[in-house]
Amino acid sequence: MRAAAAGTALLLAGCGRELSSVNPAGPQAERISDLTWYLTATGTAVFLAVTGFLLYAVWRGRRRAESAAGPAAERTLTRWVAGSVAATVVILLATLVYNFYVGRSLADFAEPGALTVRVTGHQWWWEVQYQDPVYSRRLTTANEIHVPVGRRIRLEVQSADVIHSFWAPNLHGKLDLIPGYGGTTYFRADRPGVYHGRCAEFCGLQHAKMDFLVIADPPERFAAWYDQQLRAAAPPADSVQQKGQQVFLGKGCVMCHTIRGTPANSRVGPDLTHLASRRTLAAGSLPNTRGHLAGWVVDPQKIKPGARMPPNQLASDELHALLGYLQSLK
Ligand code: CUA
Repeated sequence: MRAAAAGTALLLAGCGRELSSVNPAGPQAERISDLTWYLTATGTAVFLAVTGFLLYAVWRGRRRAESAAGPAAERTLTRWVAGSVAATVVILLATLVYNFYVGRSLADFAEPGALTVRVTGHQWWWEVQYQDPVYSRRLTTANEIHVPVGRRIRLEVQSADVIHSFWAPNLHGKLDLIPGYGGTTYFRADRPGVYHGRCAEFCGLQHAKMDFLVIADPPERFAAWYDQQLRAAAPPADSVQQKGQQVFLGKGCVMCHTIRGTPANSRVGPDLTHLASRRTLAAGSLPNTRGHLAGWVVDPQKIKPGARMPPNQLASDELHALLGYLQSLK
């Protein structure tokens, strides 16, 4: 009973606004959505027709069991079989042509001046780099991709370890991240919103906790976000944050993370320069609150067993200071 309820909830969640391939927010997703509906409708019609004919044949067969089949009955049968084969060929051909057309039109979105975002899949998080032609305007963040509404995004993907798959169904179909190969596609968000995405290729223990957000904002808001993200981290504003920064730089954190504007400059884990501006922690695993952040910093393995981040033993005043500092990284 509980399993059935959970299954239903899952199905309904699949139709939710935030992670849905039939609630398109851009032209690419719209074509995929149309194709999805076409396939669903065709499949349903074929299923109903075949079931109908089958039931009819059973019913008729019973009635006619006694009368021997003559040449006339055989001719009728041949006509039915030929008609069914013809209908099958027509339906499959139409599907093939439509499918081909959708594939072509999705590939037809290259455009100069697109905003290039490079996404690197890691076990189990997403590194996001904005490839501005001006080097000083390049930007690295994690797990949250902000895009301006109405502008074409050139998405370049790569993997740092195993095969992942980038899937934000409201915006586009899946794109695999294959080690050693680059992948490219284009998408565009036509209305503002927060679109959920997740890894769609099994990639190890925490595959299920490898989510991301695509946040589409009006161009001015996106520009403001971008300029904010370009800034180095604000220096500690009080003695607690000061101490928190020392904890960050003195304990293990500095070995894996970057905070621009400080000596922390490692790219093993996510860039934390503006950690506090993000909505989630650990690739969509947790809401970004002080309590969840504390739990994550102290024992990531409890939340995401197998994650590359080790537990951190901190005195309570150290943890308090570290949280104060991390939460100041707006
Ligand atoms: Cu990455 Cu599944």
